[in-house]
Amino acid sequence: MAVPYSQTFVIEGRDFVHAGSASTEIKSILKSLGIDAVVVRRVAIAAYEAEMNVVMYAERATMTFSVTPEVVRMCVEDRGPGIADIALAMQEGWSTATHEMREMGFGAGMGLPNIRRNADEFSIRSEVGKGTRLDIVIHIN
Ligand SMILES: Nc1ncnc2c1ncn2[C@@H]1O[C@H](COP(=O)(O)OP(=O)(O)O)[C@@H](O)[C@H]1O
Ligand SMILES: [Mg+2]
Repeated sequence: MAVPYSQTFVIEGRDFVHAGSASTEIKSILKSLGIDAVVVRRVAIAAYEAEMNVVMYAERATMTFSVTPEVVRMCVEDRGPGIADIALAMQEGWSTATHEMREMGFGAGMGLPNIRRNADEFSIRSEVGKGTRLDIVIHIN
């Protein structure tokens, strides 16, 4: 593997069996590229939270991941219900997770806030009834 690197993952909603596999693969790719451990950790957290949100709340998504000498970028674009109130969804502790999801340990309402905290650049756009798109950039160095 070498930089520049790019790969697209497909994430299926409700697929709790494979949930987390894209972010696990992203983490190992970054390690094999020799990326700084602090950067790898920030990317892994953001990727995992974005991936789990697709599994829990959306139907299907593509997660495009790329690495240049300067930055790691992820674009997660789903087809799903969308988010009516993004400001509310961004609040710490706010979650619409079901009882079943909470029993599996999800639904702390910290995913989107953690993505924003770990990203150097972050944008979220959503259209109700269509889907949601996250753009995440994390600088290397
Ligand atoms: N991709 C998505 N599609 C639809 N709704 C979403 C998506 N991601 C997040 N949400 C909504 O935003 C809320 C907050 O998300 P998050 O901060 O990750 O917390 P949690 O996943 O613990 O609920 C979710 O409960 C859900 O209502
Ligand atoms: Mg979440």
